[in-house]
Amino acid sequence: MIILGIDTSCDDTSAAVVVDGKSVLSNVVHSQVEIHHAHGGVVPELASREHIKNIMPVVEESFLRAGIGMKDLNGIAVTVGPGLVGALLVGLYYVKGLAYVCDIPLAAVNHLEGHILSIFLEKKTPPFPFVALTVSGGHTSIYHVEDYGRYTLMGQTLDDAAGEAFDKVAKISGLGYPGGVAIEKMALDGKNDKIKFPRAYLTNESLDFSFSGLKTAVALYMKKWHDGQAKEDEITLADIAASFQESVVDVLVHKVMIARRKMAVKAVVMAGGVACNKRLRERLSEVAGGEGVEVYYPRPEYCTDNGAMIAAAGYHCLLRGETADMSLDVRSKFPIQELRIED
Ligand code: KG4
Ligand code: ZN
Repeated sequence: MIILGIDTSCDDTSAAVVVDGKSVLSNVVHSQVEIHHAHGGVVPELASREHIKNIMPVVEESFLRAGIGMKDLNGIAVTVGPGLVGALLVGLYYVKGLAYVCDIPLAAVNHLEGHILSIFLEKKTPPFPFVALTVSGGHTSIYHVEDYGRYTLMGQTLDDAAGEAFDKVAKISGLGYPGGVAIEKMALDGKNDKIKFPRAYLTNESLDFSFSGLKTAVALYMKKWHDGQAKEDEITLADIAASFQESVVDVLVHKVMIARRKMAVKAVVMAGGVACNKRLRERLSEVAGGEGVEVYYPRPEYCTDNGAMIAAAGYHCLLRGETADMSLDVRSKFPIQELRIED
């Protein structure tokens, strides 16, 4: 089954052509980073306008690179949520037009299911059941994944997402947007044990996250540091970045491993933009390895938002006979637990 997958949920316009939910023929992403950079974060109105400008050329490019045409498609998959409403609407109305005119089945995809299934675009895939950590700019959640379409939420952030914390800390540090890559780069020159920033483990066994306290702690520290009042001598911005990153990594690794022990699974998957972070990958592999558990990460291009993961998730929707009709609408909030697949 050849599926066109489209994602316009935030600030990337992406389209991909994928066969049977795993073989990627093309994956085109048009980033809006430069436009939002000047504002220090994503401006929803600008994102929608950019999607309108870019959606057609991006889809055309995805066909060109895949060497196929519209007539070869067996389905079109589109993200309907969660995400920015105005941005999602651009993708949805574009594919509604395509699907209607060309009479192609349409699949409504949950963006988070896309992130979880992005690992199946890789050669090495995890065995079911597994535990998945999705860490992005909008989400930080742990799921128990029994099969395609069968996900149970085990824990999630109560306030900021991990990527949001990276973005906010980068902003107050003057490192710009998006923050994750900038902090990771800066952290390479720093010592991660120079400052002991807080770790919000909540209670011992809790699988929920909280990153807003950490963000505030870094902001307060930065202020003291700028004013020359930080007690320690010779603390660099790189030390602050590395110490902040280590705090996020500690909490993420600790919690996902609690979840894996609780469900007694042998595989852990990490996906979403923050899963690109090399220190996080290194630490999770180290800790999981010590417990004889295999960790699976999609390549960075499939961690950040992309159309290929939406095509993969859409393929499984269509296999299950879940075809959307023209009354389909977007959802700014779309908890994955609402994807109920009956036995
Ligand atoms: O999955 P994604 O592309 O979009 C959402 O669905 O949110 O994730 C984007 C987030 C941003 O917050 C960005 O700062 C973060 O992922 N990110 C990183 C890294 N690369 C991207 N965070 C930490 N380290 C990275 N290398
Ligand atoms: Zn995402």
